[in-house]
Amino acid sequence: MTVVITGANRGIGKALLDHYHTRGDTTFGTHRAATDGHMLQLDVTDAASQCGLATHMKGQPVDLLVCNAGVYLDKGQRLESGYPAALWADTFAANVTGVFMTVQSLLSNLRMAENAKIAIISSQMASHTRAPGGSYIYRASKAAALNLGRNLASDLKPDGIAVGIYHPGWVRSDMGGDSADISLEESATGLMARFDALSLATTGCFETWDGRAHAY
Ligand SMILES: NC(=O)c1ccc[n+]([C@@H]2O[C@H](COP(=O)([O-])OP(=O)(O)OC[C@H]3O[C@@H](n4cnc5c(N)ncnc54)[C@H](OP(=O)(O)O)[C@@H]3O)[C@@H](O)[C@H]2O)c1
Repeated sequence: MTVVITGANRGIGKALLDHYHTRGDTTFGTHRAATDGHMLQLDVTDAASQCGLATHMKGQPVDLLVCNAGVYLDKGQRLESGYPAALWADTFAANVTGVFMTVQSLLSNLRMAENAKIAIISSQMASHTRAPGGSYIYRASKAAALNLGRNLASDLKPDGIAVGIYHPGWVRSDMGGDSADISLEESATGLMARFDALSLATTGCFETWDGRAHAY
């Protein structure tokens, strides 16, 4: 199958790209700073860059789009004085608008494939049932990404495109840090099993990397 993964130059995105490549799938990884043709250039926040991706991929059926690129910019901000407007704008541009624009860019490619799927990497921090406080911007952005996925699932069902939303685990990446629970390898292989299992019967699901349904 043909897989497109955003933010595939490091972290969970790179681990997924490597594993799909090893499995023998046709892979397209994107990187916002790609220059050498090894990866497709895509800054998910940039409309011109999105246009470039759509042009490059024109006519190529895509079986699985993984919207993985994301930022966590408000770690450790103080409620009293932190969370400036620019941080809200930059986070939402990447984690929400970026997901939506990437889906739009590749919609015709997904429609060309049989049983196409979209996987949105959100977070357990999106859930209204987990509200320990803090990280207001990241939590709100991931909740919005979850909401996008739920609504895309409804809109795209008649097209035969299934949409799943996922918590990748607390992963030892640059974002997750060294003391996180699981390795990139564990997260990637767990997510791949989830994506394989995704179907129109389960579209709109919110699941963890290890196959548990997560409360919205
Ligand atoms: N790690 C965790 O514990 C954890 C937990 C829950 C959810 N997640 C989610 O999992 C996804 C991957 O996280 P990670 O841990 O692999 O993070 P990471 O190591 O920080 O990697 C983030 C990736 O996103 C890319 N990216 C950020 N902004 C972008 C933009 N505007 N355009 C294109 N690419 C952009 C980065 O590219 P550059 O190298 O160019 O910056 C990088 O490839 C994210 O959506 C994250 O929110 C992670």
